[in-house]
Formats: sequence, structure tokens, C-alpha cells
Amino acid sequence: MSKLQRIAITSEKGGVGKSTLAFNLAGTLAEKGKVVLVDEDERVQSVLQWSELAPVPFTVVTPEGAEGAVKGARFLVVDSEGRPAVEELIELAQTFDQVLIPCGVSRLEIASTLKLWQKLVAAGGTEAVKVVITKAPPVGRVGQDARDALREAGVPCLDTVVRRYAAHEKAAEQGGLVKDVKDNKAEEAWSDIRGVAWEVM
Ligand SMILES: Nc1ncnc2c1ncn2[C@@H]1O[C@H](COP(=O)(O)OP(=O)(O)OP(=O)(O)O)[C@@H](O)[C@H]1O
Ligand SMILES: [Mg+2]
Repeated sequence: MSKLQRIAITSEKGGVGKSTLAFNLAGTLAEKGKVVLVDEDERVQSVLQWSELAPVPFTVVTPEGAEGAVKGARFLVVDSEGRPAVEELIELAQTFDQVLIPCGVSRLEIASTLKLWQKLVAAGGTEAVKVVITKAPPVGRVGQDARDALREAGVPCLDTVVRRYAAHEKAAEQGGLVKDVKDNKAEEAWSDIRGVAWEVM
């Protein structure tokens, strides 16, 4: 049996699209094998709530349920608490195969991600950590430019830029995966998620 691959998603800022990415990423990875998605956000429990609104091809559990659920799974995806302390991030980087940090395209978001990265570098815990640009305008190169600016500053970033589409917000309202939403951009939105999955697998 293949080894369990552990992927954590966390971020310095709130509302950057962590839960949206975690949920849909779990949905794409489920095409490859059993996926367990852990909801660590005790306050809002976004992914747990979305999974209760519509059927999804993976199991969502709270941290307490993770150990039991993970048996026989190929992927463990964790929607981690936001604003981790550097020590927490280092621990994530040591326990997980991949740690994804979603980051928006604004100057402030890029600056705060860069700061977080520098703290990580100083603490020697950068392995496994990658930034993924999210909520990028679908038109133009703003997302790619944000990614390239971070890369120039030495921050490893996924090639894939997750674009901003209303389909993601519709999915959040209805529950279920973005590919199943009735929206003429649902396919584009899903293709970004597939791009992320392809890069982390
Ligand atoms: N790619 C996207 N395109 C459009 N809207 C998006 C996208 N990703 C997330 N959103 C929207 O942005 C809002 C915040 O997303 P989400 O809840 O995934 O962020 P989060 O980082 O998990 O937030 P929190 O810090 O509160 O946990 C939601 O309304 C969601 O629908
Ligand atoms: Mg969230």
C-alpha cells in the first residue's frame, strides 16, 4: 500500500482561501485514493460544515477523529489553524510532507508572507513549505506577478495560481466541490485546484 501523504494548509492572514483550497484539494486527491480532511478550525469549522451540505468523496473529521479515520488513507489534508507561530509552522514543516501557505495578491499580503518566510528561514524550518497564490484576478498577470515577486525574494511558490471565481463562493454557500457548482467558470476554478494537486502529489 502507498505511504500516507500528509498535506497541511495554513496562513499568516485569515480569509485567504485556506479552507476553500483544502476542501477542493481533498476532492481532487480523492480521484487517486482515500482522503481524510481534518478540520482544525474549531471556531468556524468551514470544511466540516461544507461536507454536511452536499456529498463529497472524502471524509472530514475533527482533530480528535483523525487518528481513527486515517487508517488505509492515501492522503491526509489538514485545514490548519491560521496565524501559526513560527514554532508551530516549523513543527508543521517537520511533520507534514507539504505545507501550503495560500497568499493573496495584495502588497500587504505578499509582504506578510515574505516576513513569515524570513522568520522560517531564520529558524531553519523551510523544508516542505510552499506558497500558493490565491484569489488572483482571472484576467491579466497580477497573480503570476505576485508569485514571481515572491520567488525573486527566494520564497518557493507553486506554479499554479488559484484564480478568483464566484464559483468558489457559490460552492461555499451550497457545500460540495467547486466543480459541481452551476456556474460557467466552475471548470476553470476546478482546473486551478487540479493544478495544485498535480504539483503537490
Ligand atoms: N479562489 C477563490 N475565488 C473566489 N473566492 C474565494 C476563493 N477562495 C476563497 N474564496 C472566498 O473567500 C472567502 C474566504 O475563504 P476561506 O474561508 O476558504 O478562507 P480561510 O483562509 O479558510 O479563512 P479563515 O481564516 O476564516 O479560516 C470565502 O467567502 C470564500 O468563498
Ligand atoms: Mg478557514
